[in-house]
Amino acid sequence: MLRSADCGSLRSENADDQVTLAGWIGRRRDHGGIIFLDLRDRSGIVQVVFNPETAAEATRIAEELRPEWVVQIKGTVNRRPDGSGNPAIATGEVEVMASEVTVLNRSLTPPFYIDDEAEADESLRLRYRYLDLRRPPMLRNLTLRHNVVKYIRNFLNDRDFLEIETPILIKSTPEGARDFLVPSRMQPGSFYALPQSPQQMKQLLMVAGVERYFQIARCFRDEDLRADRQLEFTQLDLEMSFVEEKDILDLTEELYIGMIESVSPEKKLRKPFPRISHAEAMERYASDKPDLRFGLEMTDVSDLAKETEFRVFLSTVDGGGQIKGFVVPGQAQFVTGQVKELEDTAKAAGAGGLVYIRYRGTNSVGQLMSEEILESAGLRMPPEWHQRLADKMGAGPGDMILLMAGKQPRLNNWLSAMRMRVSELLELTDPNELAFAFVTSFPLFDWNEDAKRWDSSHHPFTSPADGQETDLDGDDLGSIKSKAYDLVCNGSELASGSIRIHNRQLQEKIFGILGHSKEDTVAQFGQLLEAFEYGAPPHGGIAPGIDRLVAILCGSASIRDVIAFPKTQSGSDLLFDAPTSVDPKQLEELYLESTFKPE
Ligand code: AMO
Repeated sequence: MLRSADCGSLRSENADDQVTLAGWIGRRRDHGGIIFLDLRDRSGIVQVVFNPETAAEATRIAEELRPEWVVQIKGTVNRRPDGSGNPAIATGEVEVMASEVTVLNRSLTPPFYIDDEAEADESLRLRYRYLDLRRPPMLRNLTLRHNVVKYIRNFLNDRDFLEIETPILIKSTPEGARDFLVPSRMQPGSFYALPQSPQQMKQLLMVAGVERYFQIARCFRDEDLRADRQLEFTQLDLEMSFVEEKDILDLTEELYIGMIESVSPEKKLRKPFPRISHAEAMERYASDKPDLRFGLEMTDVSDLAKETEFRVFLSTVDGGGQIKGFVVPGQAQFVTGQVKELEDTAKAAGAGGLVYIRYRGTNSVGQLMSEEILESAGLRMPPEWHQRLADKMGAGPGDMILLMAGKQPRLNNWLSAMRMRVSELLELTDPNELAFAFVTSFPLFDWNEDAKRWDSSHHPFTSPADGQETDLDGDDLGSIKSKAYDLVCNGSELASGSIRIHNRQLQEKIFGILGHSKEDTVAQFGQLLEAFEYGAPPHGGIAPGIDRLVAILCGSASIRDVIAFPKTQSGSDLLFDAPTSVDPKQLEELYLESTFKPE
């Protein structure tokens, strides 16, 4: 070994130890001939002192050392005199008095400082990712990710799960997002797809009698990227036979609580995790992934709104819409600037407007602040009406009521955006707190207005709720519930799963409703349908996204911070410069030709 100790491990108990360290040069300070250098390795930082009087040759070399050079240093651990310690670093009570130094490698001047703070632009950090990852917070993120996966493997191993790899080159099947395709050289004109998830494979493993499967699975989806989405990402993919929904939720909850208490004990974890139905989540929080760290719960006041003469309210209710909103406690004094921000949020979300009522007896409609306009808008109501509104919404003196009018599902989207904005403005959330919840009983189908057809709300393999199978023949498909569930935390979706269909006829019927012809269904999903005829056991599972979980545990706003080599928003790998054009010969071998014409 080139070293006898790790930089970050040295403490006052190590005083007088002779150590050999190896690492990277960080900050440097010169004080009257004495040189102080920070030496950094993965474990942390320690201060190294070069004194020309006791180590002349080492000090001479130290004068040439530059940031990020790689060195080996021999020396003695010294307890720093009282009062001169550095409480900001774990090794702050000691320093190493260098006797020898060897340069193992030099470094160019790095394009940004290797420090706790990410001061450089993200594209520069991604271009030099190996330097960015050298920064202590990034190494901490990778360590935490490792600990999460290690915990998962041990936990599931203890419960008889088998970790099984499934192929990356599979058949293209519509599963929601766009597939990444891989041309086949051996079968010209044919393509593999990269898995959007191992969904069908894990179900086939249940037919195979595996009973308890998991995989730390890489998934690929060609979709537009956001802070919490990458083209390739990692799931804990999990499936079990002979289980019901409660079994999967109980196991997931036990896994998450144990894992977080082990890897991130500083987090304030609310437990047990509440389980709320999708309908209740939409009604109370206007969202299927509610942030439960704060209240701001919704009330439908359509009936009271109908008593006003406010045209927007009346026409909305007449047209089958709702008037819904929430109370912001103690914020009747919301200043004009804050109200303007809320109005901007409403507009950005696509809403027509926002009605706010300051609970001191006066009310206001959007920006229409003048008394006359208020009168003509028909919202000037007697105190008795306001009392009923306040009672219904649970508002009291000093509170602000926010209301929006519209049709579902858009109304809930607007209200949810408003609820999140208010929580930001009032700083209602503590990033250290984790409020998990299971959202259950999702609808089986969602109406796709653009395509004028029913889509699966989760995916087509999800079982309808007990007793609702016969409703598949009726015309109220929107009311059918499913056995799909999500795990949400602090307003983001961390996992999704369901109890599956394991019967061919039922599965074919679902594909029919989703608009697949019989031939199409057999061509796309024949393998699964056939397997269902060979004794498929009842089964179900879940797939927690690892990147999103680790990002929340690390307090990172983007999953890019917890992925070693992520892609940018436009899908580029700035380090390898991918994607790129390829040698025409490679295309020829694949019988491919690009039709792309650069402008
Ligand atoms: P679903 O598509 O809901 O379900 O994905 C499950 C979880 O994976 C994570 N996730 C993502 N993370 C980063 N980038 C993305 N582009 C991305 N897309 C999804 C989320 C999400 O909750 N086969 C089903 C699961 C099942 O039914 O068992 C599936 O993949 O955290």
